[in-house]
Amino acid sequence: MTKRITKAVFPVAGLGTRFLPATKASPKEMLAVVDKPLLQYAVEEAIAAGITDMIFVTGRNKRAIEDHFDPAYELEAELEARDKQDLLDIVRRVKPDHVDVYYVRQSEARGLGHAVLCAEHIVGDEPFAVILADDLIDAETPVMRQMLQLHQEHGCSLIGVENIAREHSRAYGVVTGVPFGERLVQLGGIIEKPAPEAAPSTLGVVGRYLLSPSVFKHLRGLVPGADGELQLTDGIAGMLAEEPVLAYQFKGLRYDCGSKLGYVQATVQFALRHPEIREEFRSFLQHMPYGQAPAALQVPAITPRPRNQAVAAQE
Ligand code: G1P
Repeated sequence: MTKRITKAVFPVAGLGTRFLPATKASPKEMLAVVDKPLLQYAVEEAIAAGITDMIFVTGRNKRAIEDHFDPAYELEAELEARDKQDLLDIVRRVKPDHVDVYYVRQSEARGLGHAVLCAEHIVGDEPFAVILADDLIDAETPVMRQMLQLHQEHGCSLIGVENIAREHSRAYGVVTGVPFGERLVQLGGIIEKPAPEAAPSTLGVVGRYLLSPSVFKHLRGLVPGADGELQLTDGIAGMLAEEPVLAYQFKGLRYDCGSKLGYVQATVQFALRHPEIREEFRSFLQHMPYGQAPAALQVPAITPRPRNQAVAAQE
């Protein structure tokens, strides 16, 4: 029987330069979408898939991550004293008791492949998950859970992919292969950040991987690839001669929260569903003084009001 996957690696040592100055002193994975850090969404996705060991590959600025997943006794005591049970529950749910967290330091930013390799001694000789928290995926069944079910069935490595615009290929690993079943492609090749004209398909890798431990052997032998970095994509490419790897077109909507646009889009969508603010936020968007309300809201066109009136209306 296929071995159960209990470990997930979260590479969180990137510099997050696209979000400066927000990421000057804090990792980009700690940016909040409404009220929850991206990294917590990712950890919750792993927990929903039955994963219990969270391995964070951190760099400088790891403090915020450690503090977030540590118990916060003073805060809890304060909330208890103020009888704020709902907030207390939120704080305690960040790391449920059955979940363990581990920290590994990636002291140099040498790429995603290197980050994953840094976790080898904790992962050991077991299949494991890799989750990139800046790919936030909204899905009825959490994507990691979808992938774990497929792993049970097929017993091989799996990579999450989605259709991308060819002109965006330089932002992705791009795969090629042959259809294997519903939403599955057996990988024939994978290449990191190809130019649009060199991209072998429009199936782009999204930050969800279930990998056999044999990937470490290939990561150890890596030489710098795209952007001069040690690429996870190249480690996976090395596996292909020896074992099958499947690409899976997951069910869900992915927001690229590594980009400002994707992050703001995710924020709007999650805010429109957030029980505390959704009504008022929807109304705000509908009556937004400047610009257009999102098409998805299907509201009639808005006549912009003069600024002083608009500000007064909000107050
Ligand atoms: C990484 C991977 C890339 C993948 C992407 C998905 O790139 O190297 O293969 O397509 O994540 O978000 P990065 O976004 O870190 O440049």
